[in-house]
Amino acid sequence: MVLRLPVETRDACDAARARGVRVGLVPTMGALHEGHLALAREARKYADFVVVSIFVNPTQFGPNEDFAKYPRDLDGDVAKLGAVGVDLVFAPDPSTMYPPGDETRVKVGPLAAHLCGPHRPGHFEGVTTVVAKLFAIAGKSTAVFGKKDYQQLAILRRIATDLFFPVTVVGHPIVREADGLAMSSRNAYLSADERARALALSRGLSLAARAHANGERSAGALRGLAEAEVKRVATSIDYVTLADADAIVPIDDGARLGAGTRAVLAIACRIGTTRLIDNVVLGEDPPPIQAVDR
Ligand code: PAJ
Repeated sequence: MVLRLPVETRDACDAARARGVRVGLVPTMGALHEGHLALAREARKYADFVVVSIFVNPTQFGPNEDFAKYPRDLDGDVAKLGAVGVDLVFAPDPSTMYPPGDETRVKVGPLAAHLCGPHRPGHFEGVTTVVAKLFAIAGKSTAVFGKKDYQQLAILRRIATDLFFPVTVVGHPIVREADGLAMSSRNAYLSADERARALALSRGLSLAARAHANGERSAGALRGLAEAEVKRVATSIDYVTLADADAIVPIDDGARLGAGTRAVLAIACRIGTTRLIDNVVLGEDPPPIQAVDR
């Protein structure tokens, strides 16, 4: 079933709960791939009534970003979700999510200060605002998000807590192509040559993850392994940063990772005109590519 209106979607979620059924929510922007479908399957573990939202959210795109050309395929998406057994697809129009007079925005805090935050002004405020709307529509539920957007997940955990949404946020591991490339709707933009070059992200993260597993604790050395790979092929680099995995604050190259430090190594770069991101939590996530050779 596809619903277009926020109120009817809220009614459907309320009705499910009235039947004693648990609600799951998976927010997406569509152009669905296996990563998105894995989130829907994960939501099924926590919920009997799984809602997937498909909404290319205008407020999270900058003026020079790809809002207009972002891939859209509602019919194809609905078919994929049907095969996974999703109960409800919520596919609103921008005019119902942002009706005339809409002006409230959810301000982000220090979790947005580094990594993607400075490179995409206003992006996370657009994300928090639309996800707050989705949380309010879904009501008491479990919402599943991917660790691919690691900083986004950290920020959304925070807003669920800070704004007392009755929503439990669950993170799901990054789903990758067989060769290690993190799945992304934006991978569709890549030419064959760019697709091959894009492997540098997962290769760089793998080199760092393996070095960490072999005992390397120099922040600069770990970061440098990933950066060298990405530098070889990227058109431009937004960042290759090792950050505290909870506070999302960069760790100085001169530091050594202590036993208690959870560290995320995160990359954002352009291959051609396509912006790609990827990350690995050192010591927790397996290397994205099992055997790295080039
Ligand atoms: P979108 O990029 O469509 O991603 C929707 C969800 O799928 C996010 O939680 C994202 O982290 C997850 N995801 C994407 N690729 C993944 C992969 N390869 N493995 C695991 N999870 C993956 O993120 C957004 O949309 C938007 O910002 C949104 C939260 C919907 C708000 O508009």
